[in-house]
Amino acid sequence: MTYEERLQNVSVLGAAGKMGSGILLLTAIEMTDLSLKPGNKGKTFVLNAIDVSAEGLAGLMKYLRGQVRKVAEKKTVWLRKMYADRDDLVENYDIIDEYVFDVLNVVRPVTTMAAAYQSNLIFEAVSENRALKVKLLGDIDKNNGNNPWFFTNTSSVPIKLIEKEAGLEGRVLGFHFYNPPAVQRLVELIITGKTLAEVEDFARNYAKNLKKIIVPSNDFAGFIGNGHFMRDALHGMKEATALAEEKNIPLYKAIYMVNKVTQDYLVRPMGIFQLIDYVGIDVVQFILNVMNPFVEDEELSHDLLDKMMLQGVKGGQKSSGAQKDGFLKYKGGRFTAIWDVHKQEYIDLDSFKDECDEMLGELPSSVVAWKSVIRNKKKDDLLAAFFNDLKTSADLGAAMAIKYGLKSKAIGEKLVSDKVAKETDHVNTVMLTGFFHAYGPVNNFFD
Ligand code: 3HC
Repeated sequence: MTYEERLQNVSVLGAAGKMGSGILLLTAIEMTDLSLKPGNKGKTFVLNAIDVSAEGLAGLMKYLRGQVRKVAEKKTVWLRKMYADRDDLVENYDIIDEYVFDVLNVVRPVTTMAAAYQSNLIFEAVSENRALKVKLLGDIDKNNGNNPWFFTNTSSVPIKLIEKEAGLEGRVLGFHFYNPPAVQRLVELIITGKTLAEVEDFARNYAKNLKKIIVPSNDFAGFIGNGHFMRDALHGMKEATALAEEKNIPLYKAIYMVNKVTQDYLVRPMGIFQLIDYVGIDVVQFILNVMNPFVEDEELSHDLLDKMMLQGVKGGQKSSGAQKDGFLKYKGGRFTAIWDVHKQEYIDLDSFKDECDEMLGELPSSVVAWKSVIRNKKKDDLLAAFFNDLKTSADLGAAMAIKYGLKSKAIGEKLVSDKVAKETDHVNTVMLTGFFHAYGPVNNFFD
């Protein structure tokens, strides 16, 4: 089966979810682009968007429409060539409308799994539950006569376990996107000892066509990305708890401070508590629960997460893409309050922000903002100057940032010594392209 034949009938499981909707968008575009190529005119391309939530699927179609239009606007020259035989498409907006129509026409939103029984390729992006993944993939395989290939987006379950338990020998690999898949360039590729070479070759080719950067990870629970993120998040929770005790301040103030340090001082796109909210407190807890039994020398859990879950505060995103409240409360793209686990209510930022900022101290004047630095050619010099100033500062915020930076480096190095990542470069690329960091964790900025 050729690359194109493989992509003529595809299913995405969990298509209305955060990751599934991004995978669906990218795949729908790749399939439509193939269908527009001269040799493929007239061939049918089918992409089943499978999800249990009909409401979620309606939201997905709205998301697709908006995103495909943005994509089309950026490639009108290419589209004009592909639609050269269409005299009725004159203006750019005619061509854009037609492309949006064609992409949406490939997508079949359905709530029944049976749609996947005809597919040659199945992307799995359902919730992080090993038994559910194994059951779904095993059932599809039994009912599908095509010997389909399975690309799982699991964040944490070792692929060889899914392979063995679902009986998919050689036909499954980990193809792990990062949130949001349409923006983050990373795909972690995880093969088992049995994955067929042709399955891996296809995966690499497909990732290349999606303009993604592949980083191979060894098949260890959490892989490289979550191996770093989960430990970094646990460190954030431990630091906040310790700070609250040491300074005798309520935990919500310490959460604000650690979040600020991890965003502004470490020059990251989001503070660590905002990132946990973005991924979902429940998802972070699921991933930690999957990873924990596989690590011997660490305890991958924190009671702050358990408390948040018990109090029903879970973060994550609505189907519209809007951020749900978690550690932080969000309004119009900003956060305005922090959750107090003792009082079980949000405390307005205005009532304590100045006091906390004062405790952290002034940021050095060499400070650089994440957004302005990521595409700056002098990025490394600017970052080095700022981090050097932090090292010579006696302020609390600077000391917290240096400690955090060193911890992040140690986590990165341990991923290599534990043989999760083959080399430090892989860890750095994962954080640069999957988490949009401005610099890799294994660096000399904080030594
Ligand atoms: N789909 C498509 N495009 C999206 C999007 C989405 N869901 N979310 C944001 N974008 C686009 C915006 O439309 C905008 O595009 P434009 O430049 O063409 O206008 C662009 O991304 C930038 O968005 P914003 O200007 O709104 O905001 P930011 O500049 O702050 O970027 C962000 C948003 C890309 C989410 C950035 O804050 C970021 O990268 N944060 C870190 C996210 C992260 O760490 N992800 C990894 C999580 S871990 C994971 O996924 C693994 C899993 O297994 C748990």
